Amino acid sequence: MAIGFITVASPQTPGPSQPLPFSHRTHAGDLKLQCKMCHQDPGAGETMTIAAPSTCMQCHSAIKKDSPAIRKLAAFASEGKQVPWTPVYQLPDFVHFSHKTHLDAGAACSDCHGPVATRDVLSKEGDISMGGCMNCHRQKNVSIDCTFCHDQLN
Ligand code: HEC
Ligand code: HEC
Ligand code: HEC
Ligand code: HEC
Ligand code: HEC
Repeated sequence: MAIGFITVASPQTPGPSQPLPFSHRTHAGDLKLQCKMCHQDPGAGETMTIAAPSTCMQCHSAIKKDSPAIRKLAAFASEGKQVPWTPVYQLPDFVHFSHKTHLDAGAACSDCHGPVATRDVLSKEGDISMGGCMNCHRQKNVSIDCTFCHDQLN
């Protein structure tokens, strides 16, 4: 269940270019694959992972195996390398953030990342600015003290 939402910026903002034309609309939308098949928050849940090419090859060793994009994917898989995806969402180091805390509190992926499963290309359409964080914290009566999200700033 979603616990609220934050301002969603214009979905027209172009996303970064990616090494392969991966589409969330195809995989999470049409094929209805769960987010957690490809994104997990191990350990303290600070950082979400992106599945290794070997996970993709469960399907792509057969599906579209002759397309140029899938050949490229298969080459990363056989070298045991991750695809060098370009990050879409990134906070500066001086901000504390944990996926696990937020997911445990009932936040949905779409609260911060928008309607991912309908997008062919991801862009930073969810608002992870300080104001975006604060809006939801105010709504949920969660602290907005500076030191909640930052160490001593000076
Ligand atoms: C459950 C099976 C499945 C998994 C797992 C899967 N895919 Fe796919 N993928 C598909 C299907 C089905 C299509 C659509 C094929 C078509 O258009 O006929 C597709 C299409 C694609 C395409 C477009 C290929 C082209 O040339 O049109 C890319 C690129 C792709 N997938 C990358 C990935 C990556 C990267 C992963 C892992 C992060 C992944 N896929 C995981 C089933 C899967
Ligand atoms: C089949 C694997 C797969 C599934 C299922 C999947 N993703 Fe992804 N996701 C990827 C790959 C590969 C990337 C990197 C390429 C890109 O950004 O499009 C990615 C990137 C992302 C990013 C941007 C990460 C960054 O660098 O900032 C977000 C956010 C995201 N996914 C959310 C979701 C959500 C929410 C769902 C479920 C609705 C989901 N994903 C389902 C494979 C997947
Ligand atoms: C409360 C807001 C929030 C929610 C809810 C949320 N995310 Fe994120 N996500 C972020 C922020 C902020 C970042 C950037 C983190 C950083 O740079 O440290 C991020 C980054 C990511 C990344 C890139 C890797 C990383 O950790 O930097 C992926 C992939 C991702 N999110 C997927 C998901 C998925 C899948 C869900 C739902 C299961 C989800 N997120 C729920 C805010 C959120
Ligand atoms: C969708 C609503 C929502 C958004 C957006 C949101 N938060 Fe939170 N945040 C919460 C809730 C609810 C809690 C309380 C969780 C608890 O007490 O278990 C929380 C707790 C926290 C905590 C304390 C727990 C911990 O992980 O140490 C920090 C730090 C935090 N948020 C940082 C952020 C930052 C940084 C952003 C923006 C990138 C953000 N939050 C965006 C709802 C949100
Ligand atoms: C709910 C979490 C949260 C709280 C509370 C918070 N911040 Fe931030 N702050 C952020 C995030 C996220 C960023 C990074 C924004 C970005 O990169 O767009 C940030 C960035 C900053 C920056 C850098 C600004 C810049 O333009 O680069 C300063 C300075 C700052 N915060 C000061 C404060 C002060 C002072 C307070 C208390 C009044 C505070 N913050 C409270 C989340 C928070």
